[in-house]
Amino acid sequence: MAELSRGNFGSKLGVILATAGSAVGLGNIWRFPYMAGQNGGAVFIIIYLACVLILGIPCMVSEFIIGRHGASNTARAYSKLANGTAWKVVGYMEVLTGYLITGYYAVVSGWCCNYIYASIAGELKGDPTYVSQYFENFCSDPVRPVFWTVVIFLITHFVIVHGVRNGIEKASKWMMPTLFILLLVIVVAANLLPGSSKGVEFLLKPDFTKVDKDVFLGAVGQCFYSLSIAMGCLCTYASYFSRRTNIVNSAVQISLIDTLVAILAGLVIFPAAFSVGISPDSGPKLIFITLPNVFNEAFASIPWLGWLVSLMFYALLSLAALTSLMSLHEVNTAFFYEELHISRKKGAWIVTVSCGIIGAICSLSLSKHSGLVFFGKSLFDIFDFVTGQIFLPITGLLMCLFVGWYVPKNIVKDEFTNWGTLKGTFYGFYLFSVRFICPLLILAIFLHQFNVI
Ligand code: PHE
Repeated sequence: MAELSRGNFGSKLGVILATAGSAVGLGNIWRFPYMAGQNGGAVFIIIYLACVLILGIPCMVSEFIIGRHGASNTARAYSKLANGTAWKVVGYMEVLTGYLITGYYAVVSGWCCNYIYASIAGELKGDPTYVSQYFENFCSDPVRPVFWTVVIFLITHFVIVHGVRNGIEKASKWMMPTLFILLLVIVVAANLLPGSSKGVEFLLKPDFTKVDKDVFLGAVGQCFYSLSIAMGCLCTYASYFSRRTNIVNSAVQISLIDTLVAILAGLVIFPAAFSVGISPDSGPKLIFITLPNVFNEAFASIPWLGWLVSLMFYALLSLAALTSLMSLHEVNTAFFYEELHISRKKGAWIVTVSCGIIGAICSLSLSKHSGLVFFGKSLFDIFDFVTGQIFLPITGLLMCLFVGWYVPKNIVKDEFTNWGTLKGTFYGFYLFSVRFICPLLILAIFLHQFNVI
């Protein structure tokens, strides 16, 4: 009964859209296209797909197994399987990673919202220096980014307090299709620009000479982040899956949607950028400086279309960020309300207020003279580094070892095959991957980022 009162997803489509919503985020749009274009185009995409297959999907399936078996927040789900051993710490680590990411992810999500407003108000019109200055001024403003962080948190909060079915699932069911439609419309608009085909060529043309160890490990890291692995999101959402949810099929479908969105984002960015001869880069600079310039130039002769494309692009970005933020919020909300035995509403407020404060401090650390700079890095960058480079790989590694070596195999197999009602054709492959391939690959990216290998 206790499990029923937690709520669960009402439909298969709800499961797929909500979880794909967690996966599809800024990583798909501001990082993947650039990595693909720089690292061999179609060859990178094939390597990435291979990573998804041998690492991403097995890790996602593992988190689903832990989450659905636990039918509780991530920390407790691990504890249930850990049987009083120290393995339960991994669950707490996932929740902590999710918690630390929530604040600063919300800051960037807030920037996206501001850019919707700026597109509507025509604030992004101007020459390249103006656009770049606009971003610098905005980020280092003590008030506006904090304001937008609060706005996006309140929207997320509103969804979360409505629960799993009436909040997350309902919201995802309209947000994700809207995101897709926006994306498709912008892909068409970008590819109708004169000279856009060079961009498509850049993204998709296979170039084997670019492939080396760095490219391969880059793809591994991207796959990990993009699929929201090791931050409690997948595990928490899986705790709302029904016994009929086909875990393996769902993981495959979610990964495909995530990859498709990333490739389509590339089919917006490169054709538009190449049509005006601007070379795209990655990260915040790409979406907040380069792209507004690209839109200004590409649609210079039809300003209303440039206005519309810019508005649609930032709406798309905000939706992608929002659905990811919802999943991060839910990890913590579920943790607080179940562990502190309080209402869901109170749990959600704890997250909104505390992560809101972390977000505001991160945002303020970017303004000049804030004093929130340590070891030459802003607090914002420190959060990014600690969560992404340290917590994420360590937690991911431990998660694989836990499921691969510790959790009783009858439990793993039961969850994998829905208690024997599914064939479980890939079970052997899955187990091999989660025991050997995933831990080795994660260890490799962890060591690689510190130049050990
Ligand atoms: N997967 C998201 C992205 O691609 C990022 C994210 C990671 C979101 C972990 C939630 C949890 O941007």
